[in-house]
Order: sequence, then structure tokens, then C-alpha cells
Amino acid sequence: MLKITAVYGSPRRNGNTSRLLARAVEGARSAGAQVSEFRLRDLKMSPCLEIYGCKKEGRCVIADDFHKVAEAILESDGLMLSSPIFFYAVSAHTKIFMDRCQSLWVKKYWIEKAPPGKSEFRRKGMFISVGATKGRKLFDGAVLSVRYLMDVFDMELSATLLYRGLDLEDDLDRQPEPLAEAFAAGAAFAESLRGS
Ligand SMILES: Cc1cc2nc3c(=O)[nH]c(=O)nc-3n(C[C@H](O)[C@H](O)[C@H](O)COP(=O)(O)O)c2cc1C
Repeated sequence: MLKITAVYGSPRRNGNTSRLLARAVEGARSAGAQVSEFRLRDLKMSPCLEIYGCKKEGRCVIADDFHKVAEAILESDGLMLSSPIFFYAVSAHTKIFMDRCQSLWVKKYWIEKAPPGKSEFRRKGMFISVGATKGRKLFDGAVLSVRYLMDVFDMELSATLLYRGLDLEDDLDRQPEPLAEAFAAGAAFAESLRGS
């Protein structure tokens, strides 16, 4: 069975990115994927403390909910991640999760000595993001961060759904097209995993 992990990075339970990711998850399930969902806002997760306890075995030594999310992703064929844009970057919840994945970076590049920049990705990731404004570079920082996050999971960032001009929690009620797009993109993402 095709396995996908969905990680919700917004502090809002039913905000724009959460609603879009929920629809993408429905789309992926409609295409036959088994999807595990994690809402970072509901988990206990310390920021990276930069103590490099991970240098020994590539496993973060902080005992908290990080491990269940990372392990689910490691067992999946694909990752669907969502985050709002906060100050041209990902949300704090998302960044905390990302920084904890430094343990996997250490495993891949320090312990297993993978050659940098030469990854052959075995798996795929999708990123969903929303910002209130219309800036040309609105998603540049977040997309770059997410691309390198996915690298440590041996995932290629293969699909993005990025929407400008959505701000209030109910904005998608007035402008519902992205929800339909997210469903279709979720189904297409699951199909693309089947083919890889
Ligand atoms: C702390 C904070 C920082 C924000 N920074 C930006 C920003 O840099 N650019 C932007 O376009 N919108 C910014 N926004 C607006 C959010 O991106 C926008 O409201 C988005 O729809 C929230 O998505 P969500 O409902 O999934 O959390 C910011 C909002 C907050 C609360």
C-alpha cells in the first residue's frame, strides 16, 4: 500500500494551509494512498538544541514527539507538508520540526558520507503554502528550506501548491478554487508515487 505522511505546519487548526492540505490528503486517499496526519501545533517538540547528540548514531537525543513524525516520514513513500508564510519563511512550528531533522542530515552526510548535491531521490514530497500578500519572492525562502528538508529524507520536492492573497481563516470560503486544485494535486501526487 502506498504510504504518505501529511504534516500540518500552521498554528491555525482550520486555516488556509490546513484546509488545503486536508483536501490534498482526501485527494491522495481517493487515489488509494494510506495517509498518516500530524499537526505540529498539537505535538510536544523542542527546538534543536545544537548539542549534536545525533553525531553518534544519527538519531536526535531529545525525547519528544519529533521521533514519531520523523519515523512515519521515513516509512512513507511521500511527504505532504504545509506551512503558512511568516516573514517570508515557514512558520515557527514548521521550522522547529525542520531543525530537528538536522539529526537526519548528520546521519546522511556525516555518518553515511553521502556525496553532497548528488542525491538520487527515492521518494517525493509536496509543499503547500499560502501568504497574504502578492510579493514576487514570497515563497522563495520557504521553498528553498523545504527542498533541503526533503533532501534528508531522500525526497525530491516534486510538487508545490503556492497561493498568494489568502489571509483570513475563512478566505477560502470566498475563493474556493484552490481547494479543488488541492484535491486534484493530492490525487496526482499519490499517482506519481506509484509510478516512481
Ligand atoms: C507571524 C505572521 C507573519 C506573517 N508574515 C507574512 C509575510 O511575510 N508575507 C505574507 O504575505 N503574509 C504573511 N502573514 C500572513 C499569513 O501568511 C496568512 O495569513 C496565511 O493565510 C496564514 O495561513 P494559515 O491560515 O494556514 O496559517 C503572516 C502572518 C503571521 C501571523
